[in-house]
Amino acid sequence: MQKIAIIGAGRVGEAAAQFIAQRDLTRELVLIDIREGAAEGCALDIQETAPLFGFDTHLRGGADPALMAGAGLVIITAGIPRKPGMSRSDVLDTNVGIIDGIVADIQKHAPQAILLVVSNPVDVLTWRAWRKSGWPRERVIGQAGVLDSSRMAAFVAMETGLCTCDIQAMVLGGHGDAMVPMLRYTTISGIPIAHFLDEETLARIVARTRQGGAEVLALRQNSSAYDAPGAAIAQMAEAMITDRKRVLPAIAILQGEYSYEEGAMGVPCVLGKNGVERIVELDLQTEEAAMFRRSMDAVLADIARLK
Ligand code: LAC
Repeated sequence: MQKIAIIGAGRVGEAAAQFIAQRDLTRELVLIDIREGAAEGCALDIQETAPLFGFDTHLRGGADPALMAGAGLVIITAGIPRKPGMSRSDVLDTNVGIIDGIVADIQKHAPQAILLVVSNPVDVLTWRAWRKSGWPRERVIGQAGVLDSSRMAAFVAMETGLCTCDIQAMVLGGHGDAMVPMLRYTTISGIPIAHFLDEETLARIVARTRQGGAEVLALRQNSSAYDAPGAAIAQMAEAMITDRKRVLPAIAILQGEYSYEEGAMGVPCVLGKNGVERIVELDLQTEEAAMFRRSMDAVLADIARLK
């Protein structure tokens, strides 16, 4: 089993580490954070849950980037989080510098790894990490759609009162307010969602999904979401580490797909041991294509600022 490294032992990094450890995906999980002691404390705290959950993962933490040596998957959660009222793009300027430094560390210590970017704005930073690393696009991926789709499925469950395990939701596009919840591909046991909910309720679910992160932040005030993001990371990690060939929405570097020669966008991907093994191109309907374009325009505008 491959070693996994998580950069950033904030709440998202910590939640991801806990969920990954609980799934026993790896024997060796390291947490790295520039704050002295933060990653070590986090690793120890989670290690002490091993007897309770019965997992076998060995956790280590520290500030030294060399701890990631030999990792097959490196997950980047480091960066400043959003404060209430801030958009994801507001944190771009600070986090781009952080990502650049981390990519340099990864190139040195884990040059064969798959890179999973989570820090916001995740679509733009996935593109940046890919550009900086010079790696094939298969190995540089961003997390957004799994989280957004899980939120959407949870809202569908709340609105219908039906079992979450039967609900399939799909959110494409960037992870900003212009993300693209795909009602046409949202089903309950394969039955289109429109069979269960009226248009007004569906519109409410779409709006709530787009604001999913902001809603949690507004309630908590002092923290963005971390449980659902951590669980989403664990699901993507599992798909790749265990080579399951799952079809999950992920931020991929587009090179011609969906009519974009360059950019990073949430699209359905086949995830396996090589990272993004295939991008699934959907025939978008006129309105969906317009939403997709709007989301891509927002991401491309931020990318242009970095060039
Ligand atoms: C969210 C932030 C972390 O969606 O992007 O919760």
